[in-house]
Amino acid sequence: MDLKFRLPCGLVLSAALMSAEPMHAIGNIFKPLGTPAERVADLSILTLVICAAVFLIVASLLAYAVIRFGYREGDSRSEPPQVYGSNQVEIAWTVIPILIVFVLSMSAARVTSAVQDQKMPQDALNITVIGHQWWWEFRYPDQKIVTANEFHVPLSTEALHKLTHLTLLSADVAHGFWIPQLAGKTDVIPNRTNTMWIDPKEPGVYLGNCSEYCGTQHAKMELRIVVDTPEDFQKWVTAQQAKAVPASPENQRAFLTGTCFACHTITGSPAMGKLGPDLTHLMDRQTILAAEVPNNAANLRDWIQDPQRLKPGNKMPKVKLTDKQLDQIVAYLTTLK
Ligand code: CUA
Repeated sequence: MDLKFRLPCGLVLSAALMSAEPMHAIGNIFKPLGTPAERVADLSILTLVICAAVFLIVASLLAYAVIRFGYREGDSRSEPPQVYGSNQVEIAWTVIPILIVFVLSMSAARVTSAVQDQKMPQDALNITVIGHQWWWEFRYPDQKIVTANEFHVPLSTEALHKLTHLTLLSADVAHGFWIPQLAGKTDVIPNRTNTMWIDPKEPGVYLGNCSEYCGTQHAKMELRIVVDTPEDFQKWVTAQQAKAVPASPENQRAFLTGTCFACHTITGSPAMGKLGPDLTHLMDRQTILAAEVPNNAANLRDWIQDPQRLKPGNKMPKVKLTDKQLDQIVAYLTTLK
């Protein structure tokens, strides 16, 4: 069932979202669009080139020995002469690997410290990322914004460097935060604060995912980051800071009389739950369920009706609702722009 669902869903998702903003492919560390990712890609290429050279040399010598010195018709079956103690050979096969390991580890240490030691400028954007089973929470402490699974950051250009500093926390188990085209993976560990930074160099939507096994839904813990021009980013911030105004108080009441409010916050309404994603500007997001399905009324309805159908194993409880209540709740949610 899973595969059948995933395939069309993925296609629909790409088709529906490709038109809006440029999409940057997932998982491609060889097309970096940010400084930390560029350094990681350079290091990966250096490592691959050195390993490929080692492989070619060893494999060629091996092939040469097999072909040149293999058994031939008419050879005697006796053991060949045994050679012991060649200083030259022993020095060569000790020193060369040590040099290779030294070069690789020093290059890795240099990249790691260059990325880690980056000074954060005063105007860096601060975001706290909180990993949950199985979704991402994004808090902007200075802007007083909370969102989930999709977040916006400003573009960083040659003319205007704009760094985004991420503080990584976990609400439950170990997760891994990874946007391959922007930076390397960083673990998200309970009771530990990790940090990283990004400076996306092209606008558009980037995909990321949880890179550390964290339970049943690990594979469906994806995220999307939208990189905006500074003006668009400012517009987004202003829109996010607004409180939700219910278009229909009756529909809002349906949400509040269900148990939804116990887990979800909608700023401007009495709903102040903290367990699930903040829904104040739900319809600003292109996807729901941690970037799994497009965010539309049909999927929202399907999701609320039986959360286990679209994302088996997740922690959202199934709430008994009449068709009318369900329609009202979906109608309310789709007004949260
Ligand atoms: Cu969270 Cu894997």
